Amino acid sequence: MTDDQELEREAKLVRKFKKYFKRSQSDLCEVRGSIIHGRGVYATQDIAPEVEVIEYVGEPINKETSEDRAWDQYAKSEENGDAAVYIFTLDDKWDIDGNVPWNIARLINHSCDPNCEAWTIGQQIFIHSLRDIKEGEELTFDYGFDIECYEDHPCLCGSDHCIGYIVSQEQWPELRAKLAAKP
Ligand SMILES: C[S@@+](CC[C@H](N)C(=O)[O-])C[C@H]1O[C@@H](n2cnc3c(N)ncnc32)[C@H](O)[C@@H]1O
Ligand SMILES: [Zn+2]
Repeated sequence: MTDDQELEREAKLVRKFKKYFKRSQSDLCEVRGSIIHGRGVYATQDIAPEVEVIEYVGEPINKETSEDRAWDQYAKSEENGDAAVYIFTLDDKWDIDGNVPWNIARLINHSCDPNCEAWTIGQQIFIHSLRDIKEGEELTFDYGFDIECYEDHPCLCGSDHCIGYIVSQEQWPELRAKLAAKP
């Protein structure tokens, strides 16, 4: 997709999904330059555990469209190293493509010691706090990336528990074994 086509797609989406804009705003966080990577999302006030921090909004897409877009993103990543993934699974028929400009939550970075997690509730995705978060702390969640191609996704989260790669915590035992077996 060219830059013009991309801009046109975004303009169309803004018109079509204006109603989602309001839902994507939150008083609890804002976008800032991140110490982990690029831009990130930071708490603007202390947040208690199990609070709905922000909704992850986007365009509902069926699985066929989702697959096409995933290939698009893959092609882009091959071209310019941009490996950003914005597609969230909703159910067996629908996904949400969060790659829309007003979706602040798309900028939340991954951490090996995350302070938030994504919850799917019906047809919506919410970012919830897992513990007390202090004002000024960066919000993070576990991207849940598969271990396949783990070397393509080095992790810079900086936490004491960082395993070195963006890989789902469920696959850490397998990842540890792979890392230990490396010459
Ligand atoms: C959805 S974007 C998150 C926002 C991103 N920081 C930005 O400015 O566009 C996801 C991308 O951010 C980067 N990223 C997120 N968490 C990271 C981490 N813990 N370590 C290294 N890069 C990370 C990776 O390039 C990943 O593909
Ligand atoms: Zn890490």
